[in-house]
Amino acid sequence: MVRMGVVGTGFHIGIAKMHISAYLRMPNVSVVALYDVDKEKAEKYKTEFDLKDTEICDSYEQLLSLVDAVTICTPNAFHVELAFRALEQGKHVLCEKPLGTSAGECDKLVEKAEKSNLVCGVGLCYRFIPGYQLMKKIIEEGALGEIYYLRAEMGGNRIADPSVELEWRMREELSGAGSIADFGSHLLDLSDIMLSADRGKITEIQAIANTFITQRKDEITKEEKKVSNEDVGMILAKTEKGTLISLSTSRVGSKHTMEIVGAGGFLEFDGSHPEQLTVMLKDKNGGYSQPPEVIKVPLEMYQVDAYGPKQGFEVNFYLQNKAFVEAITGQKMMVAPIRRGQYIQSLIDAAKLSAQTGQKIRMEEIV
Ligand SMILES: NC(=O)c1ccc[n+]([C@@H]2O[C@H](COP(=O)([O-])OP(=O)(O)OC[C@H]3O[C@@H](n4cnc5c(N)ncnc54)[C@H](O)[C@@H]3O)[C@@H](O)[C@H]2O)c1
Repeated sequence: MVRMGVVGTGFHIGIAKMHISAYLRMPNVSVVALYDVDKEKAEKYKTEFDLKDTEICDSYEQLLSLVDAVTICTPNAFHVELAFRALEQGKHVLCEKPLGTSAGECDKLVEKAEKSNLVCGVGLCYRFIPGYQLMKKIIEEGALGEIYYLRAEMGGNRIADPSVELEWRMREELSGAGSIADFGSHLLDLSDIMLSADRGKITEIQAIANTFITQRKDEITKEEKKVSNEDVGMILAKTEKGTLISLSTSRVGSKHTMEIVGAGGFLEFDGSHPEQLTVMLKDKNGGYSQPPEVIKVPLEMYQVDAYGPKQGFEVNFYLQNKAFVEAITGQKMMVAPIRRGQYIQSLIDAAKLSAQTGQKIRMEEIV
């Protein structure tokens, strides 16, 4: 039985909820401890999930003394320190994305993790969405041939409302970048997954960004305060072999889509229909003579065992957290390793720097 602790139970999105729901489904995991700097929030979780035997801890140290592994769901600025302290105590770590607020800050953590025999991963859960896994498979099978470009957008609508108060994610010191970190972490991870095997790594990045809701009420004092990172970011990138990438991130309204266009045809994922992909392949003469085809993501890609959810956003958390637990129990390492988290952070840093300076950033100059 893996004794799991969850840190940062949450109240804005409260992504901890997705992690806890996933672990509660697994017969070989017990959620034994929760810790939040605001104890009331953790207490509320205990009631909501009916976690009779779960300890609500007074400190992170107490939580670490009770568990084999931790799942870190705090604001970004605390990820690295909390993950490092867990490794020091010999605990496995799954840390929410983005790994930190800058790639440099992650150096010691990556070194510590790689010298240990512990599992230390980052929660880039969108890579577990079955539709994206099918997309990757189709690309690997070579149907698209040389990939010309990837275009994607991702974001949220929850805080598009200006009356939503100033959360940690709108404060640079607690979040780092804004939507570029929040949604860009998933999009940059997915872009690299889809492209790098054949088209190489991202070599250059350019970005623009803006903050549209510039002031929000402080959650405690209710005074108007400045939003210190971007609401919207647009990232352009190029891979070693010349594939072009265009990513939009927005927390003031967005769809979730990805399209990939290559010499052999195109593929499209639409987040409002995640159970299917649209595919249009060229004919033998090299033209588009056939209409697009909608293909279903096979059910077995969702339903990997008897315990998991059968559909919806919960599926990718279940698949991710199951991979984490399997890595701990020695079966496989499928969850994104911590070095991957740092690599994605370096791409976020490049986009942020480009948006601030107006310069194109070559990755070799900053890594
Ligand atoms: N994978 C995804 O798709 C996804 C989605 C949403 C959020 N996230 C990530 O999850 C993390 C949490 O986001 P959220 O929206 O759930 O946040 P949230 O604001 O809902 O919850 C964060 C919680 O952490 C607690 N906290 C703050 N500092 C702490 C500390 N030092 N120790 C312990 N607890 C502390 C807060 O009291 C709060 O309850 C972020 O890193 C975010 O980027 C990932």
